[in-house]
Amino acid sequence: MTIQTTTANPMTITEKTAWLEARYWRFGMEEELDDQLFDLFEIDDNGAMTAQPRVDPLTGESRGLMVLGRSGDGKTALLKRMLRVNAVLTEASETQEGNTLYITVPPEATIKKVAELILVKTGYQRVDAKLRSADAWEMVMHRLTKLGILAIIIDECHHIFRRGAGRDVAGAIQSLKHIMQSAGGVTLIIAGVPSLRDDILAEESGETARRFQEFSMGDIGPGGRAATAFAKNFALSARTLGLVIPEDCAMAERILFAKHGQIGRSVQLAKLILSDAVTRKRTALTLERAEVVFRKNSKCIGMTPFHDENWEAVQRELNAIGWGQ
Ligand SMILES: Nc1ncnc2c1ncn2[C@@H]1O[C@H](COP(=O)(O)OP(=O)(O)O)[C@@H](O)[C@H]1O
Ligand SMILES: [Mg+2]
Repeated sequence: MTIQTTTANPMTITEKTAWLEARYWRFGMEEELDDQLFDLFEIDDNGAMTAQPRVDPLTGESRGLMVLGRSGDGKTALLKRMLRVNAVLTEASETQEGNTLYITVPPEATIKKVAELILVKTGYQRVDAKLRSADAWEMVMHRLTKLGILAIIIDECHHIFRRGAGRDVAGAIQSLKHIMQSAGGVTLIIAGVPSLRDDILAEESGETARRFQEFSMGDIGPGGRAATAFAKNFALSARTLGLVIPEDCAMAERILFAKHGQIGRSVQLAKLILSDAVTRKRTALTLERAEVVFRKNSKCIGMTPFHDENWEAVQRELNAIGWGQ
C-alpha cells in the first residue's frame, strides 16, 4: 500500500491535485462493509473484531463475503480503504508483512494463474510453468499457513469465471471453496460484477455460494443520506481547494444525475470538475465549465444536466426527453 504524502492544507497546483486525487469520499457504505466483516471474524470480549477468521468448529471451515457491483461502482476504492483503516487487518505484500492478501485478477487469468499470483505475493517467486493447477493451489495453502495469512481479498474475481477453451469454471469454484476449507481457516472476500454471484450459484450443490455473505454496492438515490454525504464531500473538497461553489446551482445534484448516482463514476466527474478549476487557476466553479468537462468525458450532444438554468426546470426537461436512458 502506498503511503499518501499529501498535505492537509494544499497550496500549489501540484499539492492540490495530489490532495484531490488521494481523497476518499465516505458514503455510509464503509459502515455496512464493516458490519459484514464483523460476522466473519472472531470478536473479543470487548466486542472488537479480531483478525482471527471465525471458523466453524464442527467443520473447520471459514466463511466469505462477495462484494458485487458494476464496473466503476467503487468496489476497489471501498475495499482498499477498508484495508488502510481497519485496525486489525493489514496488507501483506512482497515487501511488507501483514495478515491480509489483496489480489487483483487480470482479465485473461486462469485459476492456476491466480494461484501463481498468490504465490508471488507471498514471496514465492519461481513458480514452475509445468505445475498443475491443483498442485499450485496446494502450495498456496501451505504458503498461507506459513505466513499467517488470515484473509484474502480477490478483486475482479469474475475474470476467473470467463468461459472458453482451457477454462475451468468448476475448478474455479473448487479453488475458492478450498481457501475457506484449508489453511486453518482463511476469510475470503471476493469482489466483482454482479454475474460473479450467478457464476458461483452455478455450482449444483450450491455449497460454495452458501458460505458467502453478500454485499451489493448501491447507487446514490436523490435526496437520501448518501446524496447528502456526496454534496458534503464535494463542498468540503471545494473549500480545501479554495474554490467557491455558486449558491443555489445544485452542482452536486447535477453531477449525481449525470452519472445516475453511480458512486465511483459520480466521484470521478466531481473530481474532474474540481481539478479543471484548480489547474486553470480559477477561484470559483461554474456550470459553464462543468458542462465543458462533462461533454469532454461523456460524448453527450444536446442538453446536459449542467445547462445553466434553474436545476428543477432542467431536470424536468431532461426527464421528459428520457435523457441518458
Ligand atoms: N468513495 C470514493 N471516494 C473517492 N473516489 C472513489 C470512491 N469510490 C470510487 N472512487 C473512484 O471512482 C473510480 C471507480 O471506482 P473503483 O473502485 O475502481 O470501481 P470498481 O472497482 O467498482 O470498478 C476510481 O477512480 C476510484 O478512485
Ligand atoms: Mg475495481
